[in-house]
Amino acid sequence: MDRRLEVNRSNWNERTPVHAASDFYDVGAFKAGHITLTDIERREVGDVSGKTLLHLQCHFGQDTMSWSRLGALATGVDFSEAAIDLARSLNDELGLDTRFIWSNIYDLPDALDEQFDIVFTSYGVLTWLPDLDGWAEVIAKYLKPGGTFYIVEFHPFADVFERSDSGDMIPTYAYLPNELFFDGNEPSYAGSRVIESPTYEWQHSLGEIVTALVTAGLRIEFLHEFPFNSYPLHPAIEQGDDGWWRFTKHNESYPQMFSIRATK
Ligand SMILES: C[S@@+](CC[C@H](N)C(=O)[O-])C[C@H]1O[C@@H](n2cnc3c(N)ncnc32)[C@H](O)[C@@H]1O
Repeated sequence: MDRRLEVNRSNWNERTPVHAASDFYDVGAFKAGHITLTDIERREVGDVSGKTLLHLQCHFGQDTMSWSRLGALATGVDFSEAAIDLARSLNDELGLDTRFIWSNIYDLPDALDEQFDIVFTSYGVLTWLPDLDGWAEVIAKYLKPGGTFYIVEFHPFADVFERSDSGDMIPTYAYLPNELFFDGNEPSYAGSRVIESPTYEWQHSLGEIVTALVTAGLRIEFLHEFPFNSYPLHPAIEQGDDGWWRFTKHNESYPQMFSIRATK
């Protein structure tokens, strides 16, 4: 595996138990039957009952098992052994039938040889991928002809702005594709414990994402941009009664998330 992905895998192994104990992931509610998928992906993916679904970068699998609870025949893939071990133990404890595969997504052809009705991925995945052409080829390989690919993800435009307390949108970081290195010792987005290990991350523009999917042979059905976020990415963002986070100061003028549905 690419040395930078090995670094990231260690980071995700360190994060997984912290996330599992966090309010953000609320494993207790999940065990009690909660579906962790949001209204957006449930509506935009549509009815999954009886369909085969491959979830790329599934973390410890609550979303994957939620698709199973909605009737899909779901398979989750992640390269963190800590995440896949926890996903399998939750699946067994809850008596679900979700399958979990421990693999780097780029190496998945070594571990899995079948095709699916739906390939799904969501929220915080693309930043971990150095090569979107390779990612899109994996998606195309695992879709049946006529199958559906769906992603809902944080918008790359939102990464451009400094997270200032004032709520002012100060363009600070590059939008176009670039590699970033973070030397660790920062808390994760879930849980309060500091994560010591470093990460490599990659910024991908919307053009790069769409072009990778089209080049792999997928036909884009829609690309939606949302002026709200599932996560309080910025200190000046406020949560509405509907649960989504918005920049009230900016009158919803900036995209925070996007979704794409495409067909093979
Ligand atoms: C932010 S999490 C995804 C979160 C998911 N939407 C959730 O809420 O649980 C990103 C996941 O990508 C996984 N990941 C990162 N790079 C990967 C790779 N090359 N192959 C497989 N999994 C990868 C990490 O282990 C982590 O579980």
